[in-house]
Amino acid sequence: MQLYPLTPLIGTEVRGIDVNQPIDAHIFDQIYEAWIDSTVLLIRGQSMTPRQQVEFTARFGEVFSYTRSQFNHPDQPEILILSNLTRNKKPIGSAYSGRVWHTDGHYLERPPAASMLHAIEIPPVGGDTFFANMFAAYADLPNEVKEKVESLQVMISRVDSRPYNYPDRPSPTREERASWPDIAQPVVRTHEENQRKALYVGGNVPWRIRGMAPTEAAPLVTFLQEFAVQPQYTYRHVWQAGDIVLWDNRSAMHRATYYDDKNYRRLLHRTTVSTTRAGAT
Ligand code: SIN
Repeated sequence: MQLYPLTPLIGTEVRGIDVNQPIDAHIFDQIYEAWIDSTVLLIRGQSMTPRQQVEFTARFGEVFSYTRSQFNHPDQPEILILSNLTRNKKPIGSAYSGRVWHTDGHYLERPPAASMLHAIEIPPVGGDTFFANMFAAYADLPNEVKEKVESLQVMISRVDSRPYNYPDRPSPTREERASWPDIAQPVVRTHEENQRKALYVGGNVPWRIRGMAPTEAAPLVTFLQEFAVQPQYTYRHVWQAGDIVLWDNRSAMHRATYYDDKNYRRLLHRTTVSTTRAGAT
């Protein structure tokens, strides 16, 4: 097993393993630590059945499913299908997901710790996924900004984020609005596993800051969001079929990109982890 950095500041590629074979505990520990430290793990050339994906994901933490259950895999409901493919003229998966910078489940009281994608079919061009390292972005903030944001809370509104995250979907219904309370999240989040601080302010909506006037909060939040996705903190993943990418939602943001979904097929299986070794998020 060998570990290679994807860029100087984000991501690790693991080579020399077959995820369907037993992996010695001490080797797995090295992979796990590289993932926690670099926020994104890439393993190429893997063929996993849905069940094998769930089993491999479970090595990193507790597998759970929290969104868009109509697109769960029929044989393995822990898997969310991301795809433009149809069966009997009905979409088999979520065709349009995450095309803005975000962290999964930011709007939940206990957001998922991690997400994994396994690429099955990939278009010849487009449909890449960007990742950004929020440890690295936080570390580089000017000290006066660190002091200013250290104990702030950002108010994450699932209702307000809908048009940014899903411009193709209708506005939230009255029932959805009533059942989606705003959630306060720390602007700076201390990671449970290594105690490093990461920016956790999201990437796409000028959120409110608790106790701060919107006229002051919006430019501050926008500054942090733009700071966090400068090129040195990001990695653009150009998918190949058989790739596995695992990212840490506590310390990374990600963003999908456009592809020609009328002419090309794209199919990925996503699994989600609620908590990892260090316990509750
Ligand atoms: C997502 O999980 O946000 C979508 C990623 C992708 O489809 O590239």
